[in-house]
Amino acid sequence: MASMTTTSAGRIPLIAGNWKLNLDHLQAIAFVQKLAWSLKDARLDFNEVEVAVFPPFTDLRSVQTLISADKLPLKFGAQDVSAHASGAYTGEIAAGFLKALDCDFVIIGHSERRTLHDETDAVVNAKTIAAVQSSLVPIICVGETAADLEEHGPSAVPVAQLTAALAGIASGSNVVVAYEPVWAIGSGQAATPEQAEQVAAALRAVVATALGDDAAAATRILYGGSVKSANIAGFMRQPNVDGALVGGASLDIEEFSSIVRFQKHVGV
Ligand code: PGA
Repeated sequence: MASMTTTSAGRIPLIAGNWKLNLDHLQAIAFVQKLAWSLKDARLDFNEVEVAVFPPFTDLRSVQTLISADKLPLKFGAQDVSAHASGAYTGEIAAGFLKALDCDFVIIGHSERRTLHDETDAVVNAKTIAAVQSSLVPIICVGETAADLEEHGPSAVPVAQLTAALAGIASGSNVVVAYEPVWAIGSGQAATPEQAEQVAAALRAVVATALGDDAAAATRILYGGSVKSANIAGFMRQPNVDGALVGGASLDIEEFSSIVRFQKHVGV
């Protein structure tokens, strides 16, 4: 069995909380403070797991200020980014602006963006390029719908989406991939750990082809879709699954903190 603190390949697990359209900047400050206390009380070793939150854009400056002032061992990022660096793009936020706010990561191509905002593979690719150019680590989301699963099996659509997202990205670039079956998001019906592992292994092969073997060995591949404290350990035991992208459960401090402490669930 893979070590529960780092993966067998030595990748540091990443547990990422995607808040979606929840918590304003005042609520965000209170939430991040409580989350940090909860993890400190539990004596979490932040060298063994990276914890990141993804608040709405308007919260980012407040979260940055709090994390920096209190030296909290938490990372943060945005939920989306513009493909453009500047110009006449009303409502858009540039990768450079996020970098200037000390964001480490940005989520790109979440299924809600793909479905509700018509983001194509080409848009996801352009945003990934913009993120990498600004030294943000993109968390590239891919996943099949229930119809795709029926028609093509679990791997084909995520593999095609990731191949498109990584086109033109320099070999050796630092990216994170999140496998999120669309049917598992917010449904309470998570994929099985075996399915997550099968797709994660196929996605790692895509990273190897696009970015090289060393980058593939270093890239964290997350599972997302109805992750809870009760099912996280099963995913984290898989050799190619290096963390989780958590939606609903990331808004509950006790539950999210329990997911972050997934090592404690071994053997449960
Ligand atoms: P969920 O969402 O954990 O609520 O299923 C995951 C996501 O959308 O990233």
